[in-house]
Amino acid sequence: MNFQSSNLSSSLALPPGNLGLPWIGQKQKVFKNPQNFMEEVYQKYGPVSKTRFLGKNFIYFQGYEAIKFVLTNENKYFTYSQIWRNYQKIFGQNDITILAGKEHRDRQKVLAKTIKSKSLNNYINIILDLSNSYFLKWMNFDYVDLYSEIDNYTLDLVLKLLLGIDYASQSEINNYLKDMRSGLNTIPLAFPWTKLGRALKSKNKLFNQFEEIIFRRKKENHFGSDVLGILLTVQEKMNQELTAREIAEQMVNLLSLGRKELSSALSSFLILTSEHLDVLKLLKIEKEKLDISETLSLDKFKKMVYLEQVIKEVLRLAPPVSGGLRQVTEDCSFQGFRIPKGWHVYYYISSVLQDPEIYKKPEIFNPERFNSTNAEDKKKPLCYIPFGGGARECIGKEFAYLVIKIFISALLDNCSWKFKENQDLTINKFPVARPAHPIEVCFTPK
Ligand code: HEM
Repeated sequence: MNFQSSNLSSSLALPPGNLGLPWIGQKQKVFKNPQNFMEEVYQKYGPVSKTRFLGKNFIYFQGYEAIKFVLTNENKYFTYSQIWRNYQKIFGQNDITILAGKEHRDRQKVLAKTIKSKSLNNYINIILDLSNSYFLKWMNFDYVDLYSEIDNYTLDLVLKLLLGIDYASQSEINNYLKDMRSGLNTIPLAFPWTKLGRALKSKNKLFNQFEEIIFRRKKENHFGSDVLGILLTVQEKMNQELTAREIAEQMVNLLSLGRKELSSALSSFLILTSEHLDVLKLLKIEKEKLDISETLSLDKFKKMVYLEQVIKEVLRLAPPVSGGLRQVTEDCSFQGFRIPKGWHVYYYISSVLQDPEIYKKPEIFNPERFNSTNAEDKKKPLCYIPFGGGARECIGKEFAYLVIKIFISALLDNCSWKFKENQDLTINKFPVARPAHPIEVCFTPK
């Protein structure tokens, strides 16, 4: 038997691996080329290996069986990790990623109501209008920097959908968010001149701005039909008396957990398909077959089956999130190795998405692997995990597919685009996948 828990495991050996120097551990190697580092470690030590990073003991989990063990044992042996010392200070005590058990499930249920199923129909026209306005802007330039433009687009989109805020990328909000991110992994001292100090100052300004919107909506008793509106309605129906700060925290939660991932997915989509013109041709054919008189709805987008296959292939080859962090809550074992309580865990998503036993010729871009005959992602449970899996699976998955589908199909309707020649199109996978260098693209009317 592979897995066991409790006292038995304390007599077992720790997984193989190199802990490196006492405090720095393997930091330098990891930062130099994290992707190579993870692959090397997998080849050398196998599915579980120990290491030390930023003064903490870690176990890396790689490959199908090892990651399935982590994802299916949430709340039993594993919980969220508190490795980012400043996380709670910046994002608040209520962040979904640092809740566990019932509290975590309840939060998921409430947030899911705002970004899943029927509520998504409310957002379609906003996504479409904003996409079209960005395309018009891009067509006015010879070349645009792909990632930074898409990143502005996703910021504008998410804030419009969450709280009805227009053009956030041109406002102070953009700077507040940058400060908050740079305060995450830094010395935990909050002075006006430290990164954490600046992060907390920006956090307060951002929260104050969101709270004002929440107070106004409550006072006018007009909740609105955006994410905040749905959340306020749901919480009123459930008799949940949350403070404006708590609601603002939930908004920041959704904003911080999905936006960079969307930027990543959209830019990787354009980069990977730029090398596969046959795929773009098939996407256009699928579009032409759709009934243009039919109103835009979730159901209509569900008919774009080939587009969905291409998105899946992009997320398989360039998963926006490189992996997930956890902490061990109880001694357990995996394949004869001890997994000690208190250690941190990192599961590396690409090690499953690149597994040749699941995905034939995994290095090749081939959306047909997801058609109904091949269905490589359905070979076994938890073998397609760009959105994680188990109790902490991404709740923004359906929303993300919808945004990508609307953006790409509107782009196909309105524009032709061409990448400047001889550019390095490498995508860095850590911590969130994005182009390694600026990439220039020329958009013209179709
Ligand atoms: C292509 C886009 C996206 C990808 C690839 C992605 C991926 C992921 C992954 C891998 C996790 C789990 C991490 C772990 O196991 O620790 C996660 C969690 C989460 N994602 Fe996403 N995400 C995307 C978009 C979004 C969007 C747009 C939203 C919200 C609007 C969102 C909201 C969340 C939330 C709230 C969680 C935490 C779930 C929990 O802890 O219960 N994501 N996402």
